[in-house]
Amino acid sequence: MTLLIKSIKDIKDVIAKSERPLGLVPTMGSLHEGHISLIKAAKNDCKTTIVYVFVNPLQFGPNEDFDQYPRDLEKDLEICKQNNIDIVFAPEVSEIYPNLEDSKKNPIHPPKELTDILCGKTRIDHFSGVATVIKKFFEIIEPDFTYFGEKDLQQFYVIKWLVEKFNLPIKIKSCPTIRESTGLAYSSRNRYLTPEGKIVAASLYKALKLAKENTRSGIFSVNKSVLESLIFLSHFQEIKVEYFDARNKANLEKVSEDAKHNFYYLIAAKINNVRLIDNIEIT
Ligand code: PAF
Repeated sequence: MTLLIKSIKDIKDVIAKSERPLGLVPTMGSLHEGHISLIKAAKNDCKTTIVYVFVNPLQFGPNEDFDQYPRDLEKDLEICKQNNIDIVFAPEVSEIYPNLEDSKKNPIHPPKELTDILCGKTRIDHFSGVATVIKKFFEIIEPDFTYFGEKDLQQFYVIKWLVEKFNLPIKIKSCPTIRESTGLAYSSRNRYLTPEGKIVAASLYKALKLAKENTRSGIFSVNKSVLESLIFLSHFQEIKVEYFDARNKANLEKVSEDAKHNFYYLIAAKINNVRLIDNIEIT
């Protein structure tokens, strides 16, 4: 049976009676195959699994898609039931932010080295918003394990920082990106794409793979590999690349020109105004 819970008091009461280890899968709903893989990993490790569904206003900029963000709790519940989830926690915004304006003014600020790069360059307060909401849910639920997708790589580093900074006794697990057969990474925003847009969007992963092959072959430096991939992407007029970057695995710092492993290529791009991100690891 899947319980739907909306209040902090009720979730705390249920958790007090639940078996541990307790796994938490944080989501903004609109569940897809990527989330299902996180759910499966949690169910594998934990006696109780909670999926939270909460579209977090703090992580959307003024000109972003908070109002339009797809919301379908009925469907999300159905997916959770199919996957034998014990508890879905779906609070209202006012439950999590009794004073939203105050929370907006006083978010948690992760270090600039993590937030002023990559997506943080254009999504100014995004990672402060993510850190703030995740800390709240961690404090309410007190999970033993929590699960995040590797697609949102920068977010994963921010969560790692958060857990270390506040000494939270939570083990964070990262799960591999789940892709459609074309290579397109599952994302809630894929539903904004037209069928043609979806085909074009698959090129982002092709460009990442190209950079990986070029680096691996040993012929191209990191910069040249990036350039080759940008040239490949420039053939699609629908794609506007925001960044195509190479960052090391330890702390997301820039990598040297001759790096051959232990880093990621990361991309953010808009396809007909739908913003997508993806990355590939160079092992
Ligand atoms: O990745 C997401 O869906 C969100 O950023 C998260 C982690 C649920 C926080 O709102």
